[in-house]
Amino acid sequence: MPITDLTWYDGKRNILKRIGLLGCGAIGTEIAIAVDSGKIPAKLTHVFDFSKESSELLVSKLKNKPVITENAGLLAASPVDLIVEAASQDAVRDNALSILQNRKDLMIMSVGALLDESIFDIVVEGCKDFNKRVYLPSGAIAGLDAIRAVKDELDSLTLVTTKNPRALKGAKFFETSKINLDSMTGPVVIYEGEAHDAVKMFPANINVAALLSLAGIGSAKTRVKLVADPQTDKNTHEIEARGKFGKISIKVENVPSPSNPKTSRLATLSAIECLRKICGSEINVGT
Ligand SMILES: NC(=O)c1ccc[n+]([C@@H]2O[C@H](COP(=O)([O-])OP(=O)(O)OC[C@H]3O[C@@H](n4cnc5c(N)ncnc54)[C@H](O)[C@@H]3O)[C@@H](O)[C@H]2O)c1
Repeated sequence: MPITDLTWYDGKRNILKRIGLLGCGAIGTEIAIAVDSGKIPAKLTHVFDFSKESSELLVSKLKNKPVITENAGLLAASPVDLIVEAASQDAVRDNALSILQNRKDLMIMSVGALLDESIFDIVVEGCKDFNKRVYLPSGAIAGLDAIRAVKDELDSLTLVTTKNPRALKGAKFFETSKINLDSMTGPVVIYEGEAHDAVKMFPANINVAALLSLAGIGSAKTRVKLVADPQTDKNTHEIEARGKFGKISIKVENVPSPSNPKTSRLATLSAIECLRKICGSEINVGT
């Protein structure tokens, strides 16, 4: 086949995947820059963010300028192979089905949305009906491969997340709680419960609880403790899994993203690595 448009090919005549981006904030911007610099072998062709300013700021940072679509529906219908959601749980709720219906694969960062059973079912059915794939990168934690491997033998799965209070500000939980994040002098447990409720109360803070429940024993059995500690400058996740297989203990101390303290640097790097795996033609290391 003659190659007429070299923009869709890499130097070795492999067709590059076309990516659409939903959400032009901290993660979206880093992903776009990774594609633009060639770190991810793909083309970023379309972006959308309901803040036009954010879309324009992102595009201004790129050499290869993607189209800014007028709305998420047009992004879903644009000629791309894969859409990367790096926006919010609402963005997943409102757009996942239409993206799959438009026959695009989907990478989801706002994984908490999938602990809503109705959304989860819609996404699972959408994948089957339209023969598309949904990718959930490991995000801000390590060891998800091992949790998946032992899921049938798990007796308990717990997550303790510790963040600086400034990373928790604005969460829905504080609309009804009397806890004052500004007056803390030491670590305070602000939430203890099921993963399902944690992602509703802290939608932008605890996506890792959703990833763990989806990989492991479900949201009702995944116990989550959230600690606010004014003395820490890290987002720390401690995971303990126990069962017939033995015990797994994982601790990840994440540096927060400079542009969004709620988001860990590792979450962005994990998304970039997941895209490299999807878009590249290399040996895949790890499960
Ligand atoms: N999976 C993980 O481990 C993990 C880790 C960190 C963050 N996250 C999640 O990834 C998402 C992006 O994180 P971020 O740090 O880039 O956030 P951010 O706030 O820096 O950027 C999000 C961007 O999306 C836009 N947006 C929000 N809702 C939208 C919608 N419905 N339609 C269009 N645009 C919308 C916002 O205007 C903003 O520009 C968040 O939901 C966050 O909770 C997941």
